[in-house]
Amino acid sequence: MGEGPLEAAPRRGGAEGPATNAAWFERARRVIPGGVDSPVRSFAAVGGVPYTVARGRGAYVWDVEGRRYVDMVQSYGAVLLGHAHSVVTEAVTRAAALGTSFGAPTEGEVVLAELVCSRVPGCDQVRLVSSGTEAAMSAVRVARGFTGRTRVVKFDGCYHGHADTLLAGGGSGVATLGLPGSAGVPAAAVADTVVVPYNRLPEIDDEVACVIVEPVAANMGVVAPAPGFLGALRQACDAAGALLVFDEVITGFRLGPGGASVWSGVTPDLWCFGKVIGGGLPLGAFGGRRDVLAVLAPSGPVYQAGTLSGNPLATAAGRAVLEAVTAADYDDLCARAGRLAGGLREAIAGAGVAVQVPVVGPLVGVFFGSAPVDDYASARASVAGDLYPGFFTGMLERGVALAPGPYEAMFPGLAHSDADVDVVVEAAAGAAAAMAANGSATR
Ligand SMILES: Cc1ncc(COP(=O)(O)O)c(C=O)c1O
Repeated sequence: MGEGPLEAAPRRGGAEGPATNAAWFERARRVIPGGVDSPVRSFAAVGGVPYTVARGRGAYVWDVEGRRYVDMVQSYGAVLLGHAHSVVTEAVTRAAALGTSFGAPTEGEVVLAELVCSRVPGCDQVRLVSSGTEAAMSAVRVARGFTGRTRVVKFDGCYHGHADTLLAGGGSGVATLGLPGSAGVPAAAVADTVVVPYNRLPEIDDEVACVIVEPVAANMGVVAPAPGFLGALRQACDAAGALLVFDEVITGFRLGPGGASVWSGVTPDLWCFGKVIGGGLPLGAFGGRRDVLAVLAPSGPVYQAGTLSGNPLATAAGRAVLEAVTAADYDDLCARAGRLAGGLREAIAGAGVAVQVPVVGPLVGVFFGSAPVDDYASARASVAGDLYPGFFTGMLERGVALAPGPYEAMFPGLAHSDADVDVVVEAAAGAAAAMAANGSATR
């Protein structure tokens, strides 16, 4: 899935001419709250000024100062083939030439929906939306409409986007910023949301509409489901007449062609998709059993809508990616992630810094410290050691861009070569040595 040699030197400066990251951030802060359009992009948790991306290609991004980074962010997992892959840029260009949005059905959305349903057994239908947030919000509404119940069970540290109902005990940005939830969310909006610890079977009674879960948690760092956890949830939901919702915004089409339900052998009633499904463009989807989705308007009484839903550019990109990636590519990706995780473990521990590097398929995380992490409380305990900011900065200085928050996953993709993995591992050895020299060694 590689793209051949990279162009030698990218143009310096962004579209508006030469500038520094600091100058762009200053401009941004004047007109964009906090200078970022999503809080996870802020450097508040790690210190310093965010780099402003001028362009990306393959495994790399270049900032406006012309500095190149091996990019482990990859749009928080939305990009699977690497930046500006010709499969995506050509599909989007072709689609754009035919019109960017119609407010009427298009062929592309049908083909993408067919692709998704054919890859995910048990998912009979999907409705396309424009983000993972919309997908999760809509799935919960469908579950409530279908069951006639209101209670939602979610897991502490799992993130399902920023819909009011689901902004309780969230991971990712809310965790990074240390927020218990969000101001502006009325107590009533989360009154029927029950937050329980990940990897423990909660009580599910006949007032529960749905249990929503990240089948592999990737917003409190990477935390694998304990053996039997997802299957037990399935059984408990069945016993209570509640629906099981897999939020596969991260795992969908990344963990493997069929995502986490195929990977785990557990079939939920509803799925949420985002990120990879849109090939790096704004697209999400929720899907599930035909009888459940029958409650959706226009067939049923549960309303959900979107002017740009099933957008032709986004469906073209998503389709192009899903069609391009083979089963062998997923095997390669997982092997590369395993190599990355092994290398990081050795490099960081070798410098005397206690670390765990969980890897689940293609998802890689880093927890400093040696106490096992299997839920949000233990993830928080690791983060409380405050080693991530030093690691992040050390990596950035060595040309490796990680997410600027300790609860995010790393996203090795199909563009990362073995040589890129080596660069990341070497940077980690240097960053960890610097941490150890600064007294950060934890054993
Ligand atoms: C598991 C999960 N669900 C939902 C979302 C929300 O998706 P979006 O940011 O596209 O709204 C995210 C975003 O990171 C996510 O990781």
